Amino acid sequence: MKTELLFTPAATAQTELLAVFAADKSTSKERDAKPEVALLTADEAIRKAASYVLSTGEFKAEPNETLLLHAPEGLAATRLLIVGLGKAAKADPHAVRKAAGTAVRFAKPRGIRSLAIAAPDRDFDATHAVRAIAEGVILGDFDSDTYRTDRKDRSIQTLSVVIPHGAHRSAAETGLREGVIIAESQNFARTLINEPGNLMTPSILARRAATMADEQCLRYEIHGPQTIQELGMHAFLSVAQGSDEPPALIVITYEPEGAPAEPVLGLVGKGITFDTGGISIKPADSMEKMKYDMAGGAAMIGAMRAIAQLKPKVKVIGIVCAAENMPSGKAVKPGDITFAMSGKSIEVLNTDAEGRMVLADGLHYSKQLGATHLIDAATLTGAVAIALGQINAGVFANDDEAYKHFTKALETSGEKFWRLPLDDEYREQIRSSIADIQNTGLTRYGGAINAAMFLKEFVGDTPWLHLDIAGMAWLDADKPWTAKGPTGVAVRSIVEWVRSYA
Ligand code: BES
Ligand code: ZN
Ligand code: ZN
Repeated sequence: MKTELLFTPAATAQTELLAVFAADKSTSKERDAKPEVALLTADEAIRKAASYVLSTGEFKAEPNETLLLHAPEGLAATRLLIVGLGKAAKADPHAVRKAAGTAVRFAKPRGIRSLAIAAPDRDFDATHAVRAIAEGVILGDFDSDTYRTDRKDRSIQTLSVVIPHGAHRSAAETGLREGVIIAESQNFARTLINEPGNLMTPSILARRAATMADEQCLRYEIHGPQTIQELGMHAFLSVAQGSDEPPALIVITYEPEGAPAEPVLGLVGKGITFDTGGISIKPADSMEKMKYDMAGGAAMIGAMRAIAQLKPKVKVIGIVCAAENMPSGKAVKPGDITFAMSGKSIEVLNTDAEGRMVLADGLHYSKQLGATHLIDAATLTGAVAIALGQINAGVFANDDEAYKHFTKALETSGEKFWRLPLDDEYREQIRSSIADIQNTGLTRYGGAINAAMFLKEFVGDTPWLHLDIAGMAWLDADKPWTAKGPTGVAVRSIVEWVRSYA
């Protein structure tokens, strides 16, 4: 997608579609209160073109509500699309990101390939507003129907962001640049996640990561089963041993000139390219979804891509443990004992709790490579979706300072994460009678916490955040602002978390 900034009046933008935002300024909390719709542009020609239809009251500026005007009088654009942001008090950059996505999702099925969006001119910092528009448009442009042979390319070719008079040029430029980098990186992660298991094996994931690293001039190493064995990553290997596909350990390093020796941020992702459950096999219903079990790993690869371009002055190591979880004559069995890289013995009670096995070694290795602060992302448990639904992802932290950095990151990313506990009392859930720990809890209660407690065994005192994105990594139905399929959740938050240390 080509992107540009226009420093001319929105009314003069020659485009197939000009989108402007509107908010409801009424402060009444009553459900049926009459909205007071306000266009977020001072452009007189646009206000005039929209004044009649707005006076009818049929457009209420609800979040992502749209109203289309053809051949609007006095405008160079052939269409004017008004997109609602909801109540003015809540019309923040996150509402703008979604509304910009809504404009794109509106345009695409109508065959519109280029659009202009008027950046809101009130109460908005230009960097944040333009960044939100760029992100919303690029994320909204993503579609997951890659393998339809009759697929029509309806991708948006040009986005023009119209900058209001008086806004700082450099602020708008920064917003556009950052928005494009971050959203394209999130879409890169979504592209990886969208691939089916036969076309996204651990080796293919490693190759895709390596290509990205080459393009971004990042150092990387890809290790196969032999090195993984030599490193002593037997927990990781126990997951991979049932599959004909060899595992891959992906290590990507970002070491900018002038970065201090510490902190070194370790990003660790679960890269299970397909999770059948192994011998503790999953039911057939919805098993196809388990192609997205590498979404945490993809998020890390996407984040590394963005970091390489945004160039924060902080060292980062990205690690993805990629494997396929299959049942076979060679597969790990319930009751088997394996020794993790850290030396801890693990009783494998359920081979479907494989994510924590690969992450145990990934987290330990990351520390060995020098990471002083850790963050992992994983589609780790169904239980997190039971606890939080499909609105919030789960976040666990053993360190309040690292968590504070993360909450700050969320303010910019706009992603929703809810903190869950890690009290010592939960530890007895994973106590094994034969080994140091077992890979599932004694009971099904608190399944997401039990999994996090397992990981905690491998991070020691190192400040650590664990993101359980199982409920948020895949959307089953379209939203007005984004397509169904892989969401790329966590990429933006991880990137902002990293930047918060620079
Ligand atoms: N990959 C799954 C978790 C998952 C579930 C991701 C739904 C996305 C959507 C994970 O490996 C798994 O199977 N976890 C088990 C753990 C259990 C055996 C303790 C689960 O959640 O049931
Ligand atoms: Zn599993
Ligand atoms: Zn899994």
